[in-house]
Amino acid sequence: MDEAFRPAAPGSQPAYAVPAYRSTGARAPAQALVRLPTTVTERTGPAFDPAHFPPITDLTGGAALGERIIVAGRVTDEDGRPLPHTMLEIWQANAAGRYDHPGDTHDAPLDPGFHGEGRVFTDADGHYSFISIKPGAYPWGNHDNAWRPNHIHFSLFGRGFAQRLITQMYFPGDPLLALDPIYNAIPDPAARARLVSSFDLSLTRPNWALGYRFDIVLRGGVATPMEQS
Ligand SMILES: [Fe+2]
Repeated sequence: MDEAFRPAAPGSQPAYAVPAYRSTGARAPAQALVRLPTTVTERTGPAFDPAHFPPITDLTGGAALGERIIVAGRVTDEDGRPLPHTMLEIWQANAAGRYDHPGDTHDAPLDPGFHGEGRVFTDADGHYSFISIKPGAYPWGNHDNAWRPNHIHFSLFGRGFAQRLITQMYFPGDPLLALDPIYNAIPDPAARARLVSSFDLSLTRPNWALGYRFDIVLRGGVATPMEQS
């Protein structure tokens, strides 16, 4: 085990192959993994600079259709230290459950005012926020009558490759969560619940948008679970 990072708590991360999540069978490693010790290279880079990666903090562009939301939270490491100036990339379906991507053939309308891509950086104290619309549920071909819960995709680098996290944020009270093989690929229910944002009245803007809080922990015993991949 790499001495720089604690091992993940048992059950907090999905297995590579999960039969109920069909496509994992085609991409899960068939042989034992080769462990490479992390060096200063993986622990300290790459670092992303807003000068080269301009932030997109309002995914709606002021014109997207749907239920406007503010998503905010804090990015910390496993010891609770904030991760400042960390890049978060965000992508999501529109309010009708359609991605603005040629690969998406779902029979739901595209929204010319919404492309579903964002990029934000944490401040000096690890806080981030962005404005978007609540993404719609959409069908997928995993099994008969399969629908993904409302979700927003997140990718973070932290301080370097060793802290890379790709995951999904869900919404509280979604009835599709109990049926979703991706969400349920995480064995520990407490870890699974960390993927569900919380409605936060203090984040709402009266007469304008609802607020959801989603805190993210990179690596360690209470780390946010990795997306199944
Ligand atoms: Fe998705």
